[in-house]
Amino acid sequence: MIRIQIIQGDITILKSDVIVNAANEQLLGGGGVDGAIHRAAGPELLAACKDIKEDPPGIRCPTGECRITPGFELPSAFVIHTVGPVWKGGREEEEKALRNCYRGCLSLAEKNDLKTIAFPAISCGVFGYPLKQASKIAIETITSFPTTKSSLRLVLLVAYNREIRVALKQALG
Ligand code: APR
Repeated sequence: MIRIQIIQGDITILKSDVIVNAANEQLLGGGGVDGAIHRAAGPELLAACKDIKEDPPGIRCPTGECRITPGFELPSAFVIHTVGPVWKGGREEEEKALRNCYRGCLSLAEKNDLKTIAFPAISCGVFGYPLKQASKIAIETITSFPTTKSSLRLVLLVAYNREIRVALKQALG
């Protein structure tokens, strides 16, 4: 099983093989952690995102999927951009999409032979996903990820504030 560590802080200053960005489907930056990562990575990150194929037009990363780019000026070598679900009351398969985000990011990190990956609380900001439910999904998805032949050794869950840290710790048990 992969080791999980919950830390409180700013994901952009972390030195991990890869950090995960909670992005939107256009992959052109935004607010929240997306804005912070783009500011810290520098303009080359936006250029790299713009190089990612739009399919269909305007969509570079559909909800629930993920794309990898270099980290440029970030301490981490790579960024995996994932698009979490917008919370719409839980009736539109938001849980499935959020699970897909965590699982897809772990698989993409593994495909790139990476050892440590750091996640923010995907969808728990602008996209409004209830923190307690999202934390449970994150922990369940990570702890059930098959690691027999995996390169992955450590998953960092980065809580931007105390409330998120407490929710993650409660979900981890
Ligand atoms: N480090 C770690 N976590 C952070 C940071 C940071 N520097 N900044 C914000 N967060 C946390 C927020 O506190 C929240 O818990 O990241 C989590 C995700 O919040 P958002 O960044 O708002 O992302 P999300 O809810 O997935 O919404 C994505 O917001 O910024 C736009 O372009 C983005 O359209 C997309 C949408």
